[in-house]
Amino acid sequence: MNDTAPQPGKEPVAELNDVTRTYKMGDELVNALSSFSFTFHRGEYWAIMGSSGSGKSTLLNLLGCIDRPTSGSYKIRGREVASMDDDTLSTFRGKELGFIFQSYNLLPQLDVLENILMPVMYQDEVPEGIEDRALHLAERVGLGGRLHHRPTQLSGGQQQRVAIARSLINDPALLLADEATGNLDSRTADEILELFDELHDEGTTILLVTHEQEVGERAENILRLKDGLVESVHRGRRGQSGATELFEASTPSTAAATRPGAGSASVSGSVSGSVSGPSSGPSTGGKA
Ligand SMILES: Nc1ncnc2c1ncn2[C@@H]1O[C@H](COP(=O)(O)OP(=O)(O)O)[C@@H](O)[C@H]1O
Ligand SMILES: [Mg+2]
Repeated sequence: MNDTAPQPGKEPVAELNDVTRTYKMGDELVNALSSFSFTFHRGEYWAIMGSSGSGKSTLLNLLGCIDRPTSGSYKIRGREVASMDDDTLSTFRGKELGFIFQSYNLLPQLDVLENILMPVMYQDEVPEGIEDRALHLAERVGLGGRLHHRPTQLSGGQQQRVAIARSLINDPALLLADEATGNLDSRTADEILELFDELHDEGTTILLVTHEQEVGERAENILRLKDGLVESVHRGRRGQSGATELFEASTPSTAAATRPGAGSASVSGSVSGSVSGPSSGPSTGGKA
């Protein structure tokens, strides 16, 4: 069985197929991701882990359509995004992806409600009922009594709650969180993780990059990277009996190439296309 492939009966949300992302370092090519194949399904909650340099940010940037693969295919809800032009991609990103950052990235001049509505302000058409939805989300994250506070009038945990509500305003296919609890004390971090648990229970698809084991273990599943490859895949709620370890690479350097169905291209053989850095990033979670 190939546990990086689509799971029967589950709806694929993000499908990476044979994705390589190569960076040029002087005369050398570095594969930040190598022939990477993985499918995330609707409603799943994944922690993406791995040591520094393993490819976590590269993967999150690709998933978030901030960056493009050097080669390979990437689909969100069945639509190929690797080949979209910049404008289409930017609109698509705003509608289908929610971002949560370590440093919240709220706009200081906007109040809570306006920050939550921020991604919508960049859309051509304002969806009907969107203000009610923003209100509902503010209440959902426990900020119903703080609607007109500015970020500086809020604690770190409250600011991250605003960022979470903002990330959900367009009902995204994927919620992408990069070290979302990294700036918070452990009690506040725990409250944010409880909120993620609840969102997961409500069906939100969450991908969380973290280097903290305790944080990763709160997720439903853990995808561990090493040297731009899948090192291991753990499915099932961590810490509960019945959590399954479906795949553990014996030799990480050949892990992806020896996985059944994971693509047999050699790491160097899959390097192709131009090498360019990300053109832009949604520093505030909106259209970049
Ligand atoms: N813009 C870049 N230019 C050159 N090399 C990069 C760049 N971004 C990442 N890399 C390299 O790609 C590999 C994976 O990096 P990254 O995805 O940032 O890892 P992580 O987030 O797990 O620490 C590392 O070897 C890193 O040095
Ligand atoms: Mg990183």
